[in-house]
Amino acid sequence: PEASPHPPMVELSRYACKRRTSTENHNEIFTDAFEVLAESYEFSQCDSQCLAFRRAASVLKSVPCPLQHVGAAASLPCLGGHTRAVMQEILQYGQSCEVEKILCNDRYQMLKLFTSVFGVGPKTAEKWYRGGLRTLKDALEDPSIELNSMQKAGFLHHKDISQSVSRAEAMALGDILHETALGISAHAVLVLTGGFRRGKAFGHDVDFLLSTPEKGKEEILLLSLVDSLRRQGILLYCDHHTSTFDINNMPGVSFEAMDHFAKSFLILRLYDSQVEGGLQRVEGQDDGRSWRAVRVDVVTPPMERYAFALLGWTGSRQFERDLRRFARKENRMLLDNHGLWDNTKKEFLEAESEEDIFAHLGLEYIEPQLRNA
Ligand code: CTP
Ligand code: MN
Ligand code: MN
Ligand code: MN
Repeated sequence: PEASPHPPMVELSRYACKRRTSTENHNEIFTDAFEVLAESYEFSQCDSQCLAFRRAASVLKSVPCPLQHVGAAASLPCLGGHTRAVMQEILQYGQSCEVEKILCNDRYQMLKLFTSVFGVGPKTAEKWYRGGLRTLKDALEDPSIELNSMQKAGFLHHKDISQSVSRAEAMALGDILHETALGISAHAVLVLTGGFRRGKAFGHDVDFLLSTPEKGKEEILLLSLVDSLRRQGILLYCDHHTSTFDINNMPGVSFEAMDHFAKSFLILRLYDSQVEGGLQRVEGQDDGRSWRAVRVDVVTPPMERYAFALLGWTGSRQFERDLRRFARKENRMLLDNHGLWDNTKKEFLEAESEEDIFAHLGLEYIEPQLRNA
């Protein structure tokens, strides 16, 4: 549809959790640029600039039409002088020279490459870069580098894991995990969460919530599940985090910290024959394999924490960040993946569903498909 220069728009909130954001992004030319800038600032540990560009990208993702004049951005929240200048450049010249410079930057390219390995974060990538490493082969062959088991698995399956996961592949994995879980306990509950629950067509991994109404049996269920996957020959890697959940812990202030539920970060083998329409063709794969490796996360909250865990693991990250910020700033409440603390009433607020949590916060309910902030 034809975009008007000043599209009539509902006023957008500066909180992502008060905006509706589908998977359809009409302003990708801007948000892609902002994400490069955000990532570059992240690599330089400039957290506030990084967040500013992430917020700006998130706002533009909720605009229902392509912006064709920078003036149309004037009424939008979270778009400052720097972001608007980048937009202006893109509108005028089709690209931003600041972004193009970053994309050509050696350090940016190397950090991007190194962090694409499962188990390698920005700090390790930076260390490798400063140590003079310039290729993945360098990292594998440098005698001074001791890879941990996660990084070893990351290197071993790098090509497969770098390839996005399709919805059909995610569904196939859901079927396999569901059947396996039910084989262990008839009460097992497994739901798809993360990006695929938000309706995305592709993901970098597949996220699941696993639980059971049998109190205190969640983690053993997860351990049995992983064991069964191993016996089926489809477990390629497992990094298990044991539960440190304590109901008396206050919701954390830092959103980035990992939650306390038992969880496993897995790499699983998925066969072509298990996927409707077959596997995504893995680029450069000519070794005749009939399977690919896929990253899978499984988290197991106790049933009474289920709504909080589901909300926390559905994302997007920006949506989660703003839910917590909104709770803190507007309600004097602390929200995380475990619960909601009301600092006025000095009590935890209970919830059986995501709707209950939105209601506690005084927010209109936003369905998962509209949380792609
Ligand atoms: N999450 C979390 N704790 C972790 C990892 C993830 O709470 N240790 C949450 C994140 O906040 C995110 C959701 O789980 O909202 C899914 O994370 P992730 O798989 O990284 O992102 P997706 O949105 O699923 O996108 P992608 O397609 O890239 O996987
Ligand atoms: Mn995911
Ligand atoms: Mn991602
Ligand atoms: Mn994940």
